[in-house]
Amino acid sequence: MSQSAQPATPVAFPPAFLWGAATSAYQIEGAVREGGRTPSIWDTFSHTPGKTADGDHGDIAVDHYHRYREDVALMAELGLTAYRFSVSWSRVQPTGRGPAVQVGLDFYRRLVDELLAHGIKPAVTLYHWDLPQELEDSGGWPERDTALRFAEYAGIVGEALGDRVEQWITLNEPWCSAFLGYGSGVHAPGRTDPVAALRAAHHLNLAHGLGTSALRSVMPARNQVAISLNSSVVRPLSQSPADLAAARRIDDLANGVFHGPLLHGAYPATLLAATSTVTDWSYVLDGDLRAIRQPLDALGLNYYTPTVVSAVDGAPDGPRADGHGASSFSPWPGADDVAFHQTPGERTEMGWTVDPTGLHELIMRYVQEAPRLPLYITENGAAYEDKVDAGGQVHDPERIAYLHGHLAAVHRAITDGADVRGYYLWSLMDNFEWAYGYAKRFGMVHVDYGTLERTPKSSARWYREVARTGTLPGVPGVPVAPAV
Ligand code: FCB
Repeated sequence: MSQSAQPATPVAFPPAFLWGAATSAYQIEGAVREGGRTPSIWDTFSHTPGKTADGDHGDIAVDHYHRYREDVALMAELGLTAYRFSVSWSRVQPTGRGPAVQVGLDFYRRLVDELLAHGIKPAVTLYHWDLPQELEDSGGWPERDTALRFAEYAGIVGEALGDRVEQWITLNEPWCSAFLGYGSGVHAPGRTDPVAALRAAHHLNLAHGLGTSALRSVMPARNQVAISLNSSVVRPLSQSPADLAAARRIDDLANGVFHGPLLHGAYPATLLAATSTVTDWSYVLDGDLRAIRQPLDALGLNYYTPTVVSAVDGAPDGPRADGHGASSFSPWPGADDVAFHQTPGERTEMGWTVDPTGLHELIMRYVQEAPRLPLYITENGAAYEDKVDAGGQVHDPERIAYLHGHLAAVHRAITDGADVRGYYLWSLMDNFEWAYGYAKRFGMVHVDYGTLERTPKSSARWYREVARTGTLPGVPGVPVAPAV
């Protein structure tokens, strides 16, 4: 850790800092056949044997579709000032095309009204991985048409909610959609084709650009449009030239493939060179890079753990340990000669190392790379094996320590000059953790999957106090950023 242990001095965040929590539609809503909703790629994938732990799926999830009022009341009790959720495209445009289904939009109108009535600022993510299955059947993200369909969908949702939602996020973690969905296949739709993965990445970028323009054409100018990236903090295992080169290559595939066109108007030359044996990038058409580089109002950063890599001779044997699920297919096209390493230190239930210095490093990278762009931490949190005790309480001191360390890192970045305006804890409540099913609990609220009862964990009470005071308590022995 680069922070030194500090005395137990509490630190104050800027007064307007947003204290939020995040979720996504397929992970919490359930009600998959209601209101004309049709299957998304995650419905299909999770119902395909062998794709998720225990065959878990989101048919019921945590039934938020029916319990949203109670959930918003809980958010208010927990003192949240912001809430990030996603819209299910299949509820709004069941075939991924054509006119909107009002019943679907009405659910989100009611949810937003409920949030506003409780003084909670909504942040809408348009796409959190649940492509309508019909669009996948027509080719999915590797095909250009999907980007055009996304722009149409963005315009529909923007028109319906743009008068009351100010914060918009086009895509959540397009890296996962492209490289886990079409490369390693551990996410829906489960394809394992490196060319499809790179094509998907480009069309996701294009979808962001076209979607941003569509939103701006129907919404008041005060609204902010952003994208949430899971930008990786890539560290070389050693300072050897080979390891440094491996780290640069993975940085291009994890970050440059999105930062390049979004922030700088071009794919990095080093990325194009390193993937030239895989693809010729001929699907990047004239005008695409201009369409993608829309001025962003803010950037969302999702951070969990750093990535450590080294160079190897030839392809490593067996499944990869890169923290994104086991597959013998790589999510890193053209990088078979790179090995991924578990970093030393304490781990969460996902096996991810707890390292808040990575969050500080990530934020400061953007201060350099995109000066003046407001930042939000749109996801950060940890899974632990939380259990309800005999007294009906859930004590999760590890999560409190994780949040404390990471919020201290955010604070330190603010002190170092970063314009970070809010933090969305992943997640409000335990939910369907994709290929891991319900086995991994990320919530600050525990959910009993038998009764669907919600029980705030001790971390929720801790976070409420942080949100109420806007101040992070000092804890002896825990590295804390200096006071502003
Ligand atoms: C992120 C996803 C989110 C959740 C967390 C743990 O990659 O955006 O839905 O699964 O990881």
